[in-house]
Amino acid sequence: MAGTGVFEEIIEGDVFKYYTDGEWKKSASGKSVAIINPTTRTTQYKVQACTQEEVNKVIESSKIAQKQWAKTPLWKRAELLHKAAAILKEHKAPIADCLVKEIAKPAKDSVTEVVRSGDLISYCAEEGVRILGEGKFLVSDSFPGNERTKYCLTSKIPLGVVLAIPPFNYPVNLAVSKIGPALIAGNSLVLKPPTQGAVACLHMVQCFHLAGFPTGLISCVTGKGSEIGDFLTMHPGVNCISFTGGDTGIAISKKAGMVPLQMELGGKDACIVLEDADLDLVAANIIKGGFSYSGQRCTAVKVVLVMESVADALVEKVNAKVAKLKVGPPEEDCDITPVVSESSANFIEGLAKDAKTKGATFCQEYKREGNLIWPLLLDNVRPDMRIAWEEPFGPIVPVIRISSVEEGIHHCNASNFGLQGCVFTKDINKAILISDAMETGTVQINSAPARGPDHFPFQGLKDSGIGSQGITNSINMMTKIKSTVFNLPTPSYTMG
Ligand code: G3H
Repeated sequence: MAGTGVFEEIIEGDVFKYYTDGEWKKSASGKSVAIINPTTRTTQYKVQACTQEEVNKVIESSKIAQKQWAKTPLWKRAELLHKAAAILKEHKAPIADCLVKEIAKPAKDSVTEVVRSGDLISYCAEEGVRILGEGKFLVSDSFPGNERTKYCLTSKIPLGVVLAIPPFNYPVNLAVSKIGPALIAGNSLVLKPPTQGAVACLHMVQCFHLAGFPTGLISCVTGKGSEIGDFLTMHPGVNCISFTGGDTGIAISKKAGMVPLQMELGGKDACIVLEDADLDLVAANIIKGGFSYSGQRCTAVKVVLVMESVADALVEKVNAKVAKLKVGPPEEDCDITPVVSESSANFIEGLAKDAKTKGATFCQEYKREGNLIWPLLLDNVRPDMRIAWEEPFGPIVPVIRISSVEEGIHHCNASNFGLQGCVFTKDINKAILISDAMETGTVQINSAPARGPDHFPFQGLKDSGIGSQGITNSINMMTKIKSTVFNLPTPSYTMG
């Protein structure tokens, strides 16, 4: 149960505390933010509504702690990260339970998220030791006009205070995908969790606390976006922002100061299906890619572009699998669970209604109870329908029938998003040509889009993001190159 056992100190009364200076504290605001359980639609938990004054103090402590942390040997930083990973995995059950209740993630997937996060932290420690332990050596005589009188040594130095803002759909995993790289690289870390998922994040932070990280190095502030959101992202004490979420990221990128940004802002991942594709494989991947966690993944299959000649057969196979999806509460490990909020459910419903009005074929009857929306495949979707372009972030998958591969590529590239895409064909030559033509950060051949494994590069083009993630890229992004140049009085050559 949340807030019990080793997590007892993170709650007082019925409100979870925020974390700063190595301690769990109550906000001076005296106010809290309610977290609504998407299944019961009642208040499940409450977290502190931190003030701007408290944010100032958090960032001040974070700055001080970082200076010392940057001087901590790399192997010691790695050791602490390994310890935090082990503690996180040990306490996977209560953290997963928070995910079930806060974001209605199916029980098994919730456990997987926590375990995956532990593995991610350990991998960060190992990769950091590898890539931060080496730099470059350059000599001047390789550039025209220069003698060999300058030796340049480069190393990677931390940026300072990293602000991490993960989304509701992977509050733990996408928090540690920012925390791990930041810490191993010698930065301090301020976490602003999403409202739904905040309590799972606070439990995860307690695992770092138990691992014994220095005071002030990691902080976690909760509260209303309207009160502390802009204040945090525009704070002069923040040296780097790593954000995953929706449109808010575009606003952040316009307001943030001159600091490196890492942003992942969603996608409209296209699934292009050629005539020679293995349709059973495609159908299985549409189910996994389009309906897992009820479609609430930025990498979900969000539009199927299938060649007309195989469309009937594919739709039949997908429908047969949709009929087998278990719909219900996350506690029962159902495939389709309630979407995160009522407003999200209303938005999804709006897309379905628009498609209905404009003549899409509903392969299943549209059904909704509260935030629970039954899985729906929409056939014969046309470009004038909103669902052809917008991200439902729900269990609805549109199918557009195409008469040429070029038409599919054109639809994919006309999107303002460019996160991932996938192509199904047995012809590797065609797969490469299509992959090269698709304007997305990643193209999966014969599999649904996915971010993992977590050390793979992960990036979006256009409105899907800024920069690249994945463990190595994130560590590099959270560092800066520092050079020291030795100027010699005379040219010097290393002799054999
Ligand atoms: O929702 C965005 C996530 O980065 C997607 O991760 O592909 O592991 O589900 P995933």
